[in-house]
Amino acid sequence: MTIHLLESLSAQEVATAIQLFRAHHDDDQSFFSSIGLKEPNKADVLGAKSMPRVIELSGVDRHSDGGFVSLIDVTNMSVLNTTRLMLDAQAAYNYIDFGVAISLTKSNPEWVAAVAARGVDVSTDEALALIQIDPWPAGGYAHESIPKGHRALRCIAFLREDAADNGYARPIHGLIAHVDITARSVTHIEDSGIVPMPTASARFDGENRIPARSDLKPITITQPEGTSFQVSGNKISWQGFQVRASVHPVSGLVLHELSLQERPILYRAALSEMVVPYGDKDPMHSWKHVLDASEYNMGTMINSLKLGCDCLGEIHYLDAHQVTFDGNVKTIENAICIHEEDYGIQWKHHDSASKTTEVRRSRRLVISSVFTVGNYDYGFYWYLYLDGTIQMEIKLTGIVGVSVVTKETLNPAQAPIIGENLSSPVHQHLFCFRLDWHLDGGSNSLFENQIESIPTSASNPDGTQFQSVSRHLKTESDSIRDNAPHISRNWKVVNPASKNKWGVPVAYKLLPAASPTLLAQAGSQVAKRAAFANHNLWATPFAEEELSAAGPNTVMHAGQGGLAEMTAGNRNIENCDLVMWHTVGVTHVPRPEDWPVMPVEYTGFHLIPVGFFNENPTLDLPKNCKS
Ligand code: NI
Repeated sequence: MTIHLLESLSAQEVATAIQLFRAHHDDDQSFFSSIGLKEPNKADVLGAKSMPRVIELSGVDRHSDGGFVSLIDVTNMSVLNTTRLMLDAQAAYNYIDFGVAISLTKSNPEWVAAVAARGVDVSTDEALALIQIDPWPAGGYAHESIPKGHRALRCIAFLREDAADNGYARPIHGLIAHVDITARSVTHIEDSGIVPMPTASARFDGENRIPARSDLKPITITQPEGTSFQVSGNKISWQGFQVRASVHPVSGLVLHELSLQERPILYRAALSEMVVPYGDKDPMHSWKHVLDASEYNMGTMINSLKLGCDCLGEIHYLDAHQVTFDGNVKTIENAICIHEEDYGIQWKHHDSASKTTEVRRSRRLVISSVFTVGNYDYGFYWYLYLDGTIQMEIKLTGIVGVSVVTKETLNPAQAPIIGENLSSPVHQHLFCFRLDWHLDGGSNSLFENQIESIPTSASNPDGTQFQSVSRHLKTESDSIRDNAPHISRNWKVVNPASKNKWGVPVAYKLLPAASPTLLAQAGSQVAKRAAFANHNLWATPFAEEELSAAGPNTVMHAGQGGLAEMTAGNRNIENCDLVMWHTVGVTHVPRPEDWPVMPVEYTGFHLIPVGFFNENPTLDLPKNCKS
């Protein structure tokens, strides 16, 4: 049986790859960060070539470098090569790193004494077990006690009332353990002063909080005749759309070969990188700017979804097969959820003269996954609509970062109060999506559109006129742009060779949300390491190896290989194989309603057909409103 080049890894392929790696490396001290399909070259996929299945396995071992990336051919059963990573671009953190950091911290006498000084019981193993430790990437800020290039984590801690408690309710404030993972030692205990432990409970698990409301009647979603979509392997077909969905170690949920009515739109669409920079002056937070996707390998933190809770209705799930840190197959059941949702009206008109109404229902196909990275949970939802619109919606939820405060230390401009003796630092969540276009199967060009007012003159005597202005972005530097919602700025991908019935080249426009850009100063570590977040838009001509907005392997890196460096040569992007990079996100000023668990906040973007069709493509929707 032929496996499609972009089909997701099977459990058998994962097991085979690990077996081949072990046999080839004769090394029982390898600890794995991730496993994933080495995506075949785009030209080979588009040419429907038959290629061997190659798996990329990364991790760390006893070598004193940045770890390894091994390419393993599971079709021909051989290890193709193993690349050693540099000290300034290391393999993603894995569970062995976290385990080492946590046990080193808990067994450090200076740290234990500092915890005890805050009134926390450390007298027994049971008491110590109630202390939760969160290891954070040291990023560009490894403590001076840690030699350059050593793998570093910063450990912050929280106290639980029991194993099932909200782990973030009681921060052990003012205390950071700097851990040198390479040397296996705690190199410095940073203590910025004792703040009394908060006393209030902050549980949200239902049983321990308040009685559940009893007046919500059930909503039942049924499709008695079945769904309108079909799934074969990881290929999904729905209402003329075809697309493949898979899970990538860094990008999480990935779409490939998205087409509509057999017309290609996107070759690949996925998150490339994200960053969560904190804006508070408190030394517990001021250094935080985790690159969740690449430093933690977000794809490895994918949830197993539950029917009736995460998804509602007639669901089709796809599993994901990954590797544990010690080399076993880990299957995440129900990792990708696929279902249809009613979405209100698609279009409507009431004719006053004849008193007739024409109305059609809209619906969308939802392809979604949820990832838990420490205290935060991120849902990524791709929506495909009947009118050709494609939407990415990010749902941000989970638990906000917290500080313990007193009346004297409260600094509401940088950390508003959210609970008893608790404040939460201002921060941003900035997501960079890499959109690899293949619009109508050919070369594509990029335009910026916005609305401009026309000055009052003889031809505009009332001063009421405005116009849509389009500008061709011809080079990489042209394409570095920011949102401007007040003038309806958007970016249009055009296939100049494919014209619609009206003689106009077919296009899709990217409609951005009202998103911020990075607020940190230009010279800051985060501005260098996450340079992609300095702007909402970048564009590049397709290059096989350019997948990472912040550069590949960002653990301990200083920003090399990211979009700023990628576009430094200012390549031409006219009528080319176009890749668009869009940074979208939120600046989060936490509020009491975000505690103890945060109601979903939304952000994202839309891709909307502009002259891709000759008229409203949903005129053929059935008049029966139940369809
Ligand atoms: Ni937030």
